[in-house]
Amino acid sequence: EAGGVDDIASLDIDALRQRVAHCTRCRLCETRTHAVFGVGDLGADWMMIGEGPGATEDQVGEPFVGQAGKLLDNMLRALDLNRASGVFITNVVKCRPPGNRDPLPDEIAACAPYLRRQIALVQPQVLLALGRFAAQSLVQSQAKIGALRGTVHRHEGVPVIATYHPAYLLRAMTDKAKAWQDLCLARDTLRARLAT
Ligand code: URA
Repeated sequence: EAGGVDDIASLDIDALRQRVAHCTRCRLCETRTHAVFGVGDLGADWMMIGEGPGATEDQVGEPFVGQAGKLLDNMLRALDLNRASGVFITNVVKCRPPGNRDPLPDEIAACAPYLRRQIALVQPQVLLALGRFAAQSLVQSQAKIGALRGTVHRHEGVPVIATYHPAYLLRAMTDKAKAWQDLCLARDTLRARLAT
């Protein structure tokens, strides 16, 4: 069925990008300016997955371009990555929840086939879940981020490391050391995986 969920898993990257740009699978399409597909290296080993576009991202059409994005860029730099090379950056929901409210379960579910297809096409070797919504949906858990971080989970066989959302870290300096540990765990997990 054209435009349905069933063929999302068969789209190539350009068709997927077009589908997301015109998506009407949930109510967030009514209030968005731009659907935010994601940005980065389509052959990346790393995929960073946030929650959803904020006001700036909705305007610009690119993920993590606001204040939280500056912190994410610092995290990338620490890992020798940048937006053009080594990493693909996207979100659990591609459209901004109004007023930056939390994405609702049905919105996350409606958008999940897109993220699933992005992962299948890019074939990252490690997934870094930024915050509770990314972590919970990739790991299929209701646990809090503090409980999900610190161990290696799996999504379709790909290792998932959960960490705090950069927007949270801007407010909670004390958890920055833990986020750093999470980055090290992800880097070491990737290295071990690429060595085998
Ligand atoms: N926060 C997110 O989770 N994603 C973005 O793209 C921007 C801010």
